[in-house]
Amino acid sequence: MKIAVVFYSFSGNTKRLASFLKKKFGEKKREVDLIELKPVREETVFLKQCMQAFLKRNPELLDVEYDLKNYDMVIFSSPVWAFTFAPCLHSYFKKVKNLEGKQTVLILTYGSGAGTDKALKEMEEVLLGFKTKIIFEAKIPGHKTKNEEYLGEKLKPLIEMV
Ligand SMILES: Cc1cc2nc3c(=O)[nH]c(=O)nc-3n(C[C@H](O)[C@H](O)[C@H](O)COP(=O)(O)O)c2cc1C
Repeated sequence: MKIAVVFYSFSGNTKRLASFLKKKFGEKKREVDLIELKPVREETVFLKQCMQAFLKRNPELLDVEYDLKNYDMVIFSSPVWAFTFAPCLHSYFKKVKNLEGKQTVLILTYGSGAGTDKALKEMEEVLLGFKTKIIFEAKIPGHKTKNEEYLGEKLKPLIEMV
């Protein structure tokens, strides 16, 4: 089984989570590629980041693999931004190829917890639009991404499934 983890991370929490998954799946001899989304121009001002997310902007991404044909499972992971998922994921979904029909997983990291259900639902809708089969979902508090024991427990069903 070949797995892609497509993620965006501004302050490192979601990236830490993605690296944890790579390590855990690696222990099970699964092949994992981390596909990190980076905007050409990173917005760093909180309010502008929120506006970008709220308005569902599609920032231009640095060169990245859009064709997922080689993967059996694709994990999408994003921080919650202004009650939705991060703009870079929107940009990716505009150009992604061969996602249709795949097994997908959705993992969000968050701060206060405001808007996490809405963000999850919006990403679910996108993934269902690609006719993917969502096999696992999780919401992880950003500060808990440093706690491998917590991550292991929270993501146990996924790790066991793979
Ligand atoms: C622009 C911006 C907007 C955010 N909006 C929310 C929000 O609506 N709800 C929430 O629970 N956390 C929110 N957060 C907190 C992040 O989701 C949380 O810190 C996340 O783990 C950051 O992931 P990262 O370190 O991978 O960038 C926001 C953070 C930023 C920078």
